[in-house]
Amino acid sequence: MPTEGNGLADEAGLFELAPAKINLALHVTGQRADGYHLLESIVTFADTGDGLSFFAAEEDGFTVSGRFAHLLPPDAAGQDGNLVLKARDLLRRMLEKRGIPTPPVAIHLEKNLPVAAGIGGGSADAAATLRGLLRFWDAGMPEPELASLALSLGTDVPMCLRSEALMAKGIGEDLTELATLPSLPLVLGNPLVGVSTPDIFRRLMRKDNPPIGALDGDWLPVLKTLRNDLEPPARSLVREIDQISNLIGAEGAMLTRMSGSGATCFGIFPSSEAAQKAAENLNGQKPDWYFQAVQTVGTGQ
Ligand code: C5P
Repeated sequence: MPTEGNGLADEAGLFELAPAKINLALHVTGQRADGYHLLESIVTFADTGDGLSFFAAEEDGFTVSGRFAHLLPPDAAGQDGNLVLKARDLLRRMLEKRGIPTPPVAIHLEKNLPVAAGIGGGSADAAATLRGLLRFWDAGMPEPELASLALSLGTDVPMCLRSEALMAKGIGEDLTELATLPSLPLVLGNPLVGVSTPDIFRRLMRKDNPPIGALDGDWLPVLKTLRNDLEPPARSLVREIDQISNLIGAEGAMLTRMSGSGATCFGIFPSSEAAQKAAENLNGQKPDWYFQAVQTVGTGQ
């Protein structure tokens, strides 16, 4: 478990949720000269995720708890746990340049989301660290600077910073709010097989797939016409993805699909009760895997 001292000085911390990110559709439409892929993605966020708490302390600290805490690599810079520290350090440097004081902070991460799972994880943690520390240090930063700081931490961090229903384009930096995406009851399922995002992009055969196009009409029929272009390479690498998607489908999901670069799949259910029941059944069948009923953020309903 990653730790960096444990300077907890008081009990009353400040809390930020790091919601799970779900790519309801993800089309890969091209590739930039630097190798990054151009995407169009309908992104939304769950009402559950990791939890970040920030406490006044005599020295900086970082502790982790939760079901998936043991999966965080202690020293892998750029990976989940340490993305929190990277976010803290980058933000502090920027604020200090402006003469804004950034006193020591003890950060606690409750790692409830599976790691390397296609649902944000480390990116959501990094984004929640930025949001939380801006509140903790009572500091403001112009939106474009914050967005570019977020992008320097990872392509999914800017969308996680907003944590609202979005259309994401470019490599994830071009974000537009989706004004009419309803709140959806989902079940998330992950076989607890970590997937490396660069591996999946490397295995992608076609990089010039059709874009998402106009979003007219009811959401479910529209979503059914869309895809996740990272699903075929991920399925070829992780055979449990077929199984998890079939299991969620068999519980009555109206649509099942993989999120991000996987391996997490989601099913859209007719009601939150149906999603809860399905997650309960699935956890009973596969107690070693991860199934979670969530409600996504909605807009315009
Ligand atoms: O930005 P992030 O750290 O999530 O990206 C991890 C890796 O995934 C990148 O280094 C790149 O190899 C690949 N990637 C990509 N195109 C994107 C996002 C990520 O090729 N749009």
